[in-house]
Amino acid sequence: MKDKIIKDKLPKHVAVIMDGNGRWAKQKGNMRLFGHQNGVKAVREVTEAAAELGIEYLTLYAFSTENWNRPKAEVEGLMSLLVSTIASETKTLNNNNVRLRVIGCHNLPASVQKKLDECVAQTASNTGLTLVLALSYSSRWEITEAARQIAADVKSGKITAESIDENTVSQYLSTSFMPDPELLIRTSGELRISNFLMWQIAYSELYFCETLWPDFRKDDFYRAIVEYQGRERRFGKTSEQVRN
Ligand code: FPP
Repeated sequence: MKDKIIKDKLPKHVAVIMDGNGRWAKQKGNMRLFGHQNGVKAVREVTEAAAELGIEYLTLYAFSTENWNRPKAEVEGLMSLLVSTIASETKTLNNNNVRLRVIGCHNLPASVQKKLDECVAQTASNTGLTLVLALSYSSRWEITEAARQIAADVKSGKITAESIDENTVSQYLSTSFMPDPELLIRTSGELRISNFLMWQIAYSELYFCETLWPDFRKDDFYRAIVEYQGRERRFGKTSEQVRN
């Protein structure tokens, strides 16, 4: 699959909704947390594949605002898995020139926030792939926060209401440091966006596959890139306009 990828037509930013951990575990007669633990391997594979290809940004939906409503034991298990994974992978991120950033992150337990801040600081000078974890993130929350901040800045006279355009809104989102994703991948056969990057994916190519997240490997990632490269991105124009 990797050989089929056109090197000068790579997406700059790929976003992933990692789904199917629970079903993967259930199929094996195990607890849901077992699925999350095995999902870490897929996170490693995809991060490595994206870094090797030279993709600039990879955003992974690791925990949504709505995920707080899951059973307490699952939430606690996921949080400690995140902390231990981030702690143990910081060295590998540095060895591979990968920078970690986070979006969302409201109401995270202090210990999780601390570990995240440490890893973000320790990888801040890396210049290769930027790995963005969406943690305690939801798009509606993010857009609401942006609206509140824009209103405050209008009130204080920092900006005028008339000057607000699409670009302004983008600049107030937590993703303002990176381009919108050209490609969004969702695993496990579910056909939903689930409150993820709703503003940013206005023109993204959507790729859905049946593979459950813990089974997702480099080749599955390459397949998504190849499919993306075969699509015609028209941005509302006609096919003829795009080709000329
Ligand atoms: C969705 O599967 C997955 C999650 C809510 C968590 C994703 C977390 C990991 C892969 C753990 C490690 C991550 C990092 C970044 C270190 P689901 O539980 O909704 O599965 P289901 O739909 O089959 O129930």
